[in-house]
Amino acid sequence: MVDRTGSRDVGTMTLRVHRVTWEAPGVVSVDLRDPDGGVLPRAEPGAHLDLQLPGGLVRQYSLCGDPADDRVYRIGVLEVAGGRGSGFVHGALRPGQLVTVGGPRNNFSFDPADSYVFVAGGIGVTPLLPMVREAARAGRPWTLHYCVRSAARAPFLEELSALPGGEVVLHASAEGTRLSVERLLAEPRDGVLVYCCGPERLMTAVEVAAAHWPAGSARFEWFVPRSDARAAAGEDGDAPVEVVCARAGITVPVPPDVSILDALAGQGVDVPCSCQQGICGTCETRVIEGEPDHRDSILTEAERAAGKTMMVCVSRARSPRLVLDL
Ligand code: FES
Repeated sequence: MVDRTGSRDVGTMTLRVHRVTWEAPGVVSVDLRDPDGGVLPRAEPGAHLDLQLPGGLVRQYSLCGDPADDRVYRIGVLEVAGGRGSGFVHGALRPGQLVTVGGPRNNFSFDPADSYVFVAGGIGVTPLLPMVREAARAGRPWTLHYCVRSAARAPFLEELSALPGGEVVLHASAEGTRLSVERLLAEPRDGVLVYCCGPERLMTAVEVAAAHWPAGSARFEWFVPRSDARAAAGEDGDAPVEVVCARAGITVPVPPDVSILDALAGQGVDVPCSCQQGICGTCETRVIEGEPDHRDSILTEAERAAGKTMMVCVSRARSPRLVLDL
């Protein structure tokens, strides 16, 4: 199995809610610990947990604690109107309760660089917080451009502002300060990595503004499928595809209106999955032969072009046949 972080088959574990903290209007953080006080699997900056909730709900939340603290996982959760996952976290999750989590998994790896530019929009700051902390710890210069409605609505602002070696630049739309990503990224800089998480409009703007930077300089974490991926997933006229499971030794026909993941499950080939939207990476599967039609929001352009791996929950095929490492 494949994972760009090196740990694909992460299981589930039971953790205890240790603390729920109000961070900003509509945002709480939740500290999770091993019920016996044990050490937790290492979570690198950018990692997320799958939080399993009543009714079979599974939601992905970025870890926003200190990666060096191996006894606590902290997630930050924004209450979304009508959101069942965030509604449960805000309305029902209390200290002392036990929860089941999957992971940690990481599709947003934090790589060494000379310096860092972080661009966060609202709750998108959560996966960036451990990265800022790590950059500060490594003595690498960093700047966080933090886009919010107002300073009062910026979760973790005080904590971020206390980190050494860099600067938090707040762009508060209600206070008349807006970030120009075009200006920010006008000059490509060698050795600088740009990490961005926030609403799609912000991430698309950063992607466009950084298009002339060295390949791979700008990295993104998508909380919801990007709209071009959603559009591709909704396309009519998908061709059927034949999927050969190399290890299981079976061939599975996939009709146009059925996902590869579901067709495989129908034939008894269960691929681990979580979001089924192409944003969590749980169903990532190695491609041995054939050309995938990528419709996820995780793989980079280079990874897409290499075609060595695919998210079988949403992606299809450009070739009539795929041979997968299943
Ligand atoms: Fe989340 Fe496929 S199940 S990417």
